[in-house]
Amino acid sequence: MAELAINGGPKAVPEGMIKPWPPVTDLDRRYVLESLANDVHTYGPNCRKLEEEFAAWNGNRFAILTNSGTAALHMAIAACGCGAGDHVLVPAYSWSSSVTCALHHNCVPVFVDVRFDTINIDEDKIETAITPRTRAILVVHLHGMAVNMDKVCAIARKHGLKVIEDCCQAHGAQFRGRKVGLWGDVAAFSLNQNKCLTSGEGGVLVTDDRTVCDNARMIWSFGETRTPAEDRDYHAYALGWMYRSSDLAAAFGRAQLTRLDAYLEIQKKNAQVLLDGLADVPGLILPAVPEGCTPNWYNFQVRIDADALGWNGPPSRLRDAIMQAIQAEGVPAGIYQRFILPDMTVFKAKNAYGRGCPWSCPFTEPVEYDSGAFPGATKHLETHFGMTTPLRAPNSTDVASAVTEGIRKVFENTDRLALD
Ligand SMILES: Cc1ncc(COP(=O)(O)O)c(C=O)c1O
Repeated sequence: MAELAINGGPKAVPEGMIKPWPPVTDLDRRYVLESLANDVHTYGPNCRKLEEEFAAWNGNRFAILTNSGTAALHMAIAACGCGAGDHVLVPAYSWSSSVTCALHHNCVPVFVDVRFDTINIDEDKIETAITPRTRAILVVHLHGMAVNMDKVCAIARKHGLKVIEDCCQAHGAQFRGRKVGLWGDVAAFSLNQNKCLTSGEGGVLVTDDRTVCDNARMIWSFGETRTPAEDRDYHAYALGWMYRSSDLAAAFGRAQLTRLDAYLEIQKKNAQVLLDGLADVPGLILPAVPEGCTPNWYNFQVRIDADALGWNGPPSRLRDAIMQAIQAEGVPAGIYQRFILPDMTVFKAKNAYGRGCPWSCPFTEPVEYDSGAFPGATKHLETHFGMTTPLRAPNSTDVASAVTEGIRKVFENTDRLALD
């Protein structure tokens, strides 16, 4: 075995081998240039077409194109009737806006711990968090691994709650053979550059419920109630935002959508190379795929097993040393989150809108955010690292094999890492 790259040895993954995401082809250029040649650069014909095409791809009745996944999440919260002082159950570990979207509509988030195996909301801890103030359960299919939606939907039905799916990372992920975004009342996808389907920046809200769709559309565009097909009367019927996307972005997104299934196939093959090639590495915890889940391999997350590696210090110190050595091998590994959500200042300070709102809302009940109450999220936080680009098109199994070699090389030489 060659010397570790961090100690001056050769890199396992040569410079330039990993290609950036997303691939841009002549079809992308044609769609974008045709949009540019049109008169409409705001919400235009490509936006309408992308809504139809994405709804058809995912199997939903309705889709609304937005300028971010966060906008779609806020619309989803509002469209489900969640409002001032309502509690929304959310996972303790995710992207910040999976939860701040609730604050955007004056709702109070209530955190539920995540399972260490899936890094998703612990379905078995949801029910004890429900109170008379609870209005909705917001689940995140994090890193493209589906939540057990049978359990979540059964709890929601029993307690009369809405279900919102954050599918921002989960295009094409399935639970029991059914795509995410088809299980709850409403779902939000992101089209940000790092996502499996991108339009640069953007998002899509999907639902099968016409009322939810109409409510969401009102929030989307200045509180106007008229559909894009109708003449506008420029009247704010309710509080609205400006969450529309632009035709140029939609044109790019439409071209990318034609290749989404092929992209997901590539991710699946690359993930399999990593899973097979790393299966016997001591001290490395590979992603678990629970029964019924078909991940899209948006992000390949691994964890270190500090005990198995004979390490008694803080797990994050060993994780950092291993990850830095893997980065030196040319593998673009990174830490996804450095805080569990309840530890982020916006929640700790309980002061989103000033004067303590929405936590001080007279219609709500107090909630406490106790950092120690989320052992699953905390353990994951301290032990994980992951990667996206090496799994993505146009990178194929030769890249995945080189990455596998880089990771193996470091784990087989942890005694050569400077850990003092
Ligand atoms: C799980 C999750 N939710 C929400 C978002 C927000 O999406 P956007 O960046 O498009 O607003 C992201 C984006 O990173 C995400 O990963």
